[in-house]
Formats: sequence, C-alpha cells, structure tokens
Amino acid sequence: MTAQRIQDTVAEDFARVNDLIIERLSSDVPLVEKIAQYIIESGGKRLRPLLVLLSSQAIGYDRDDHLKLAAVIEFLHTATLLHDDVVDTSDLRRGRSTANARWGNAPSVLVGDFLYARAFEMMVELNSLPIMEVLSRATAVIAEGEVQQLMNVKNPDVGEDQYMEVIHNKTAMLFEAASHTGALLAGASTEQEQALKNYGKHLGLAFQLVDDALDYTGDADAMGKNVGDDLAEGKPTLPLIHAMANSSEENRQLIRSAIRKGGLDDLPAILRVVNESGALEYTMAKAREQAALASDCLKTLPSSPHASALEMLTEIAVERVS
Ligand code: IPE
Ligand code: IPE
Ligand code: MG
Ligand code: MG
Repeated sequence: MTAQRIQDTVAEDFARVNDLIIERLSSDVPLVEKIAQYIIESGGKRLRPLLVLLSSQAIGYDRDDHLKLAAVIEFLHTATLLHDDVVDTSDLRRGRSTANARWGNAPSVLVGDFLYARAFEMMVELNSLPIMEVLSRATAVIAEGEVQQLMNVKNPDVGEDQYMEVIHNKTAMLFEAASHTGALLAGASTEQEQALKNYGKHLGLAFQLVDDALDYTGDADAMGKNVGDDLAEGKPTLPLIHAMANSSEENRQLIRSAIRKGGLDDLPAILRVVNESGALEYTMAKAREQAALASDCLKTLPSSPHASALEMLTEIAVERVS
C-alpha cells in the first residue's frame, strides 16, 4: 500500500473533513478568519485527522461523527503550530511565511486561542464525556511539553530521557489522542482502545524523532520549513544530545557552546560533528524502533483496508522527507 492508497482508503471522508474544517473556520471578525484560513488552507499533511478516520473505521465505525472529531484534532494541531512558530521565531511553515512573520506575534497567538476555542465548541457537540476527557487532557499536556522544551532551550545538559519526555508531551500526545478518540468513538473493546492509543503514541514519537533529524538533514523546499531552526533556537534535540555523548572533548565543547548561544553561525561545523558521530543514524534508529512498536500494537485489530493503512503509516512516518 502506498501513501496514495492510504488517502484513497478514506478519500471521500477526507474531502468531507476538509469541507467541515473550512466551514467551521468562520468568524465575524475578519482578521480571525483571514489568519485561520491562511494557515489551514496552506496545506499540511492532515495526518492527525487521517488517524481519526482510520482508527475509528478500523473498529468498524459507520456513522458521521468521526468527521467532526477529525476536524477538531486538526484545529488543535493548527492552534499549536500558530503558537509554536511564535515561540520558535520560525518564519516558514507549509512552504509559506508563518502567520507571525506576516501579521506579527500578537495576532498569531490570539488566533491560535480562537482555534483552540472553536475546537472545544465542536468537541462539546460530539457529546461524549470520555472523548472530551482525552482531548482536554491532551491539550494541557501539549502546552506543558512546549513549556518544558522552553525550559530546556540553551541548556546543553539536557539528556535523552528529558528529550523523550518533551517529544512525548508536545507531539506524541496529539497522535495518541487522535487514534484513542477514534477508537472511543467507534466503541472499541478495552483491548483495542489501548492498542490504538499506544499505536498513536509510538507513531507520534517516531514522527517527531524524524522531524528532529530532518531539521539537520532535510530539504527546506520539501519540508516547507527551514533547516536549522532547532539549532538557531538552541534546542537540545536528540541529534545534538547523542553527538555530545559520542564525540571528542573538542567537538563536545563546540556543540555545548552552540546550544548555549543559539544562532546559525556554527551550523556547518555542527553538521560535520553530528554526521561524524553517527547521531543522525542513531536518531533514525530510535524512530524505527518506535515505528515498530506502533506496528506491533495493530496486531489486535481485525484485518481491513483501514488497519493496513495504519500499518503503512508506520513506514511512511520514518521514510518521510516532508
Ligand atoms: C508539524 O507537524 C509539527 C510536528 C509535530 C513536527 P506536521 O509535520 O504534521 O505538520 P503539517 O500539518 O503537515 O504542516
Ligand atoms: C512541534 O514542535 C510540536 C508542536 C507544534 C506542539 P517543533 O517546533 O519541533 O515543530 P516544527 O519543526 O516547528 O514543525
Ligand atoms: Mg517549531
Ligand atoms: Mg522541528
């Protein structure tokens, strides 16, 4: 199964989710609508809504609320991106100027708040306390993850465990919430609910590990984001953490000082050290490990095109270049 086949599995629903997303962006305040539309319509892989569609249907869901749930999750994701680009001072997202680069930090933060709020309005319409519980908890954990990461910025003593906790909270949590709530909506058995929840967690961890490798090795055109953003912010991600533990004293000091300073002056030297130390291979091996754990979780599901698509996503997550 290819990426295209995955989309095909849920093509009609996918189109309906997109329509619903656009419809529910409406606001009487023109700037709110403009910025919200700008980011939502600039594309994005729509991976998390895809997870909702596939997870619910892998359990045999056959009504329509999965569309609304998928839109809710994409709104939550988009809100985190608006905030994240302000915090990371990023100026490129989805191949375009970020909202903060175009309109400034204040409107970006406020429209991010609007998207959170709209997501919660729609969540209430779903009328499921268990789903609300998972999504409200996930939203809090994502915010905590972003704050934990902020506390780690410019600190070269952050270790692998701390890093894994941050990426679990800031990224894997929403993947987990997507597949978990998809299962809840479909009335999954306890065993299947746990399996899909864990699937999302491991897939999300794999996804962010790859993202952090791509921040050093990726292609800005393919990613639609700048390369080197993490170093510029002084973020101690796994490629740097592993390189520091596996380099000469001189190179270790080079990385420590680059993390403390932030900025891109040292990028070429850092890239050389990161490459020599095998840290990118290590990061990708960790991603593959998480993808394999995600794949293991699917064994409890009955076979279906949707389950196969979830399986395929574990491969795509590690092979991706964008
Ligand atoms: C970006 O997520 C934020 C991370 C967790 C790395 P995506 O790579 O899914 O972003 P879009 O929605 O496709 O732009
Ligand atoms: C993404 O973190 C996580 C959230 C948006 C909560 P990053 O800062 O690594 O993602 P990109 O690289 O900006 O997409
Ligand atoms: Mg960022
Ligand atoms: Mg990143």
